[in-house]
Amino acid sequence: MAKRLLHTYVSLTELSFAAAEQIIQQANQSISSRGVFRIALAGGSTPRVLYEIISSDKYIDKTDWSLWIIYFGDERIVSLADERSNYATAKRSLLDKVPLKEGNIYIPSVDLIDSKAVATDYETRIRDSFTEEGPTTPQLDLILLGLGSDGHTASLFPGKASLKEVRYLVVDSTPGILPPPVNRITFTLPFINASRRVMFLASGEDKLNAFRSAYYGKPIDSSGHLAVAYSVQPTNGDLDWFVTKELSSDE
Ligand code: 6PG
Repeated sequence: MAKRLLHTYVSLTELSFAAAEQIIQQANQSISSRGVFRIALAGGSTPRVLYEIISSDKYIDKTDWSLWIIYFGDERIVSLADERSNYATAKRSLLDKVPLKEGNIYIPSVDLIDSKAVATDYETRIRDSFTEEGPTTPQLDLILLGLGSDGHTASLFPGKASLKEVRYLVVDSTPGILPPPVNRITFTLPFINASRRVMFLASGEDKLNAFRSAYYGKPIDSSGHLAVAYSVQPTNGDLDWFVTKELSSDE
């Protein structure tokens, strides 16, 4: 039976240490049972603390990084050196600090410029990375996700066609209402919900309504709409919310 758990912490640092512990534990379980750990990183600023912690001396020797395969749940169509790039954030805080195997980081080809082309190319490369026979929708071991104050997650924004996409693993999206106002690519809900586990990381008063909507299914505002993130309900996988205490005060 898939689990749905809420973990509450007094600070983002404490949250990040707890998440790091769980990710290393899951990585080693995946490696021992399937010889590989496939993880999609979240963008935005919240996971930076986690990335710094999990690549620190405390964990560097706690897993076989050469058996990790890294994906990106979404990316902004900007240069990989641009500070707005989710890859650039992960490179600085994690990827350059751990001994990953060459070729095991699947970076969206943003140099294709056209976001539809980037999405199509990324989907092909993700599918090709699953060498073993498996389900039509490939199953990642873990997908890390953030939460926007408007209820979005990855680059699945309210009102966009991407929310209804059921054919593809990855699609393009025009900007949402939150910055940066650039085109994106994003994992689709069916791909996210096929994962063995989804781990949300959320912190900050500004996300209170978004969290309540995403976790409890309450309208995010007077429009009556639910947060996009509420649609992340893994089909057979586990769902873990890691939040700081201001978000889990009485609903
Ligand atoms: C993106 C992110 C996005 C992010 C949320 C939360 O590319 O914009 O993937 O989904 O996770 O916007 O961002 P913060 O962690 O910076 O609040």
